[in-house]
Amino acid sequence: MSGEILLLAGPNLDLLGERSPEIYGTTTWAEHVARFRSRADAAGYTVRDLQTSFEGDLIEAVHDARENCVAVVVNAGALSHTSWALADALATFEGVKLEVHLSNPAAREPYRHVSTLAGVVNGTIAGFGALSYDLALEAVVRLLES
Ligand code: DQA
Repeated sequence: MSGEILLLAGPNLDLLGERSPEIYGTTTWAEHVARFRSRADAAGYTVRDLQTSFEGDLIEAVHDARENCVAVVVNAGALSHTSWALADALATFEGVKLEVHLSNPAAREPYRHVSTLAGVVNGTIAGFGALSYDLALEAVVRLLES
């Protein structure tokens, strides 16, 4: 199969590499994107990436993806725990949708235990550090090709 995957990142993920490395690791967002893109390319998919700290821009990116993407992989950062608007946008996307976290929010502070996105995505991959993105790509490709 082929097609374009939207790789989305929310607030503060532009600081990966220097932000709480003991929790999120030392890989930068640019490095996560490069690795995801190269693995997607090997599987026959292209990648459109966006990191933004603005909720509305994440929502608009999902709207755009409705036209021409086969999958959305989203780490919405703290908006994962608060944004019903992003959840509503994702609910309108008919392709494969995955929520990703580097850390395991369920093992952290109580306010991170809620995900507004969990109910509208195919599944969530969390807690594997940089490996979370490898696993997300593997899941996306398997779901698209099943
Ligand atoms: C995160 C987990 C969120 O709780 C946090 O607000 C982030 C990063 C993760 O990738 O582990 O910004 O989404």
